[in-house]
Amino acid sequence: MDIATNPTTPEGNPELADAAPMPHAPPVIQRADYKPLAWRVPTTHLDFQLGLEATIVTATLEIERNPDAAPSSELRLNGDSLTAQSVTVDGAPAQWRMDGPDLLLSLSGDRHTVTIVTDIDPGANTQLMGLYASGGMLCTQCEAEGFRRITFFPDRPDVLSVYTVRMAADKATFPILMCNGNRTAEGQGADGTHWAEWHDPWPKPSYLFALVAGNLVANSKPFTTASGRMVECNVWVRREDLARTDHALESLHRSMKWDEDVFGREYDLDLYNIVAVSDFNMGAMENKGLNVFNTKYVLADPDTATDADFDAVEGVIAHEYFHNWSGNRITCRDWFQLSLKEGFTVLRDQLFSQDMRGESVKRIEDVRILRAAQFPEDAGPLAHPIRPDSYREISNFYTATVYNKGAEVIRMMRSMVGESRFRAGTDLYFDRHDGEAATCEDFVRAIEDGADIDLTQFRRWYSQAGTPRVAVSQAVDGDTLTLTLMQTAPATPGQPDKLPMPIPLRVAVHSRQSGALGSEQLIVLNEAEQSFILPLTGADPVVSINRGFTAPVVIERALVREDLVFLAAQDNDPFARSEALQELAVGHLIGAAGGTLSNADRQGGEAAIIGAFRSSLNDSALDDAMRGELMVLPSETYLFEAMAAGERKADPGAIHAAREALKGAIGAALKDELLALHARTSALRLDDPAGRGARKVKSIALGFLAAGDPECAGDLAAVQYDTADNMTDRQGALMVLCGLDHPARAAKLAAFHDRYKDNALVVDKWFTLQALSLHPDVIEHVRALAQHSDFTMRNPNRVRSLHMAFAGNPKGFHAANGEGYRMVADVILALDPINPQTAARFVPALGRWRRIEPGRAAMMKAELERIMAAGNLSRDTYEQVSRSLEG
Ligand code: TRP
Ligand code: ZN
Repeated sequence: MDIATNPTTPEGNPELADAAPMPHAPPVIQRADYKPLAWRVPTTHLDFQLGLEATIVTATLEIERNPDAAPSSELRLNGDSLTAQSVTVDGAPAQWRMDGPDLLLSLSGDRHTVTIVTDIDPGANTQLMGLYASGGMLCTQCEAEGFRRITFFPDRPDVLSVYTVRMAADKATFPILMCNGNRTAEGQGADGTHWAEWHDPWPKPSYLFALVAGNLVANSKPFTTASGRMVECNVWVRREDLARTDHALESLHRSMKWDEDVFGREYDLDLYNIVAVSDFNMGAMENKGLNVFNTKYVLADPDTATDADFDAVEGVIAHEYFHNWSGNRITCRDWFQLSLKEGFTVLRDQLFSQDMRGESVKRIEDVRILRAAQFPEDAGPLAHPIRPDSYREISNFYTATVYNKGAEVIRMMRSMVGESRFRAGTDLYFDRHDGEAATCEDFVRAIEDGADIDLTQFRRWYSQAGTPRVAVSQAVDGDTLTLTLMQTAPATPGQPDKLPMPIPLRVAVHSRQSGALGSEQLIVLNEAEQSFILPLTGADPVVSINRGFTAPVVIERALVREDLVFLAAQDNDPFARSEALQELAVGHLIGAAGGTLSNADRQGGEAAIIGAFRSSLNDSALDDAMRGELMVLPSETYLFEAMAAGERKADPGAIHAAREALKGAIGAALKDELLALHARTSALRLDDPAGRGARKVKSIALGFLAAGDPECAGDLAAVQYDTADNMTDRQGALMVLCGLDHPARAAKLAAFHDRYKDNALVVDKWFTLQALSLHPDVIEHVRALAQHSDFTMRNPNRVRSLHMAFAGNPKGFHAANGEGYRMVADVILALDPINPQTAARFVPALGRWRRIEPGRAAMMKAELERIMAAGNLSRDTYEQVSRSLEG
């Protein structure tokens, strides 16, 4: 539905545009409306009488007028579902009134002490924002606007305050009481209670506040900083999880050391606490000195976690640790600046993981994530710049665009100036803005000044949405090659026209005839169209472009198959090798799905891809980790994007069929090689240094074999399952079995559940394996699993393990009869009243309807309309559904 025909929103109906907003349309917040608050809050005292069902919060705020803001004798204290039990100013009853959820105070003087008492019910908090109960403990999640569910406060990131917190609770239920900073006092109270007082010396915004109370034990190991300070590092978990915390603790130490070495950043408190909780909306949270983590990103041992899980733990631990500087010491002025901390911190965790486990493989993985999650977002109704201009609910903007494209944008600056000048830029940024609530503009200016580069035009990357496309053409002239590049960026909601942006591209010109590899150089495309003269190294020049993925763009060119095969086998940039194979496969699969390939073309394409696979299987110079990357076919989501260009729509059914056919052809043609690979890698033991790469290719090989010879692969998978001494092999085997109608399928699934029924994270895997499976009955399976006694809508990990996995299973979700769409819409409607943040995350899958063929598009849109018509939606879901229908 286009904007002009959607009567349900003021935006969609010009006659309503000036009328009052619809009663259920939450207001739009504009970046341009930012104004500093008229008051400051230098110190905040919080007193908690903690209980699972009833917690009393007494907040005492010292406030003073902000000389840098327009004066006001009113102070807005944000609230969300709170009732004030008492409000006093300087000890006397205050003048106040409610304005919707907020409390407005009238103030006459220049400085005051404001005291407010609220009581809250953490046990009833199913949104998991604010103070909530999880597995018998109490914990908080305040980013972005959760603190206002605990007490009335100017809950905005530019209000920095020094916090002192006193917690009192029953000692048996809550033996451990923690808050930000350091413990300054503790004692016993009456009736089996105890109390603790904590003080955080660093001024912080309310979103970084955290409190944890529960029965927890710690894995501890001190870290000595570069300047010789001892930091007590603790990973807090339930007692039964203690044995799975070493990897998290070691990852924290590696992160602390790396940030000193690479960014010159040292930790600034004597204590670093990480707490694992099993009910959590996101991955983890960087609260000052007290990170709260989803158990999924803390707990890992080889019996229960895959190698990929280990990597994810290391990456998230690093991410939250790095926020201590990029996020906490320097925070965001307002939520439109979210990418200031998230984009930069994602870049920092990516660079860390590259250093820990190898640059090329990590880069390939990160680009795959960007293409699977961010490119579709940038091409759809929810597209937004990395620094958005407006929102209704900020939780909806914790996106792949703000995080991952945000990281790519900063990575481009780094590529243009080189590592050491980039470091000079970040040094200046940390130095100049330490202790401040800063903007993206502050960051760009610091890089400009510190790294000595003009980023005037580059700033467009912050304001323009949409993935730029770069069309490549080449002409040979004597011993040079003229490379002509043309950039365009698609229209996105609210942004019909785009200006050219600087696009840094690492390029090299190889010779296919001689095999000579050209030297690499960085060119920057600034104009809409621009030519570059490059040296030739021999006949049949082949341009290798966007090596290392220096720019988050789509390269448009038509290389002949022989060139792509040559690059896939010979390029000296491992990223470029994997890219050439992707290009080869995308070209073939889009052609096959579109029905435009002649028989000869189809066979030729298949043969070229099989040949390229054969060379990577036989290339003894490759390690298995990299071999595994070369064997990953483009995802169906990425193929949708490639197929939906201009007037052409994506056909999920045809894409799935084409991709499965290619898998089958590879599995059949390379059966012997794949079996040999599987046998070689199965001989390695868990503790073999090459074991990681081996485990990766082992299950990839099994997947291709399953497509080529299901029975043989099923038998092999059953053996792999039975002999596995680690979760990587076990899960890999089960994943293949799940997609097959093999006699071992049901037995192994049951054995897996039985073995791990007490481990929630592994039970999540059990749900996910079935929801992601290629089995023809996947929809019936998911419907039955939603009724399983282990399933609950109250736990986000469990909801994601079943329903989010299903929404990401193209075969099930895009089932031709629309059943998949209906199931996901039902999940959104059922989850919205319980956990709106998580419910809204299901909307983008349906929001892609405009790029899908008309039959499915109509059904997807109808489901969105059904959600809208249900009324009474949360701000989160309302915003996502309405944008998906308008955009
Ligand atoms: N700042 C967190 C991170 O990126 C993200 C986060 C954790 C979050 N929990 C949240 C965002 C809840 C919104 C709501 O590390
Ligand atoms: Zn983050």
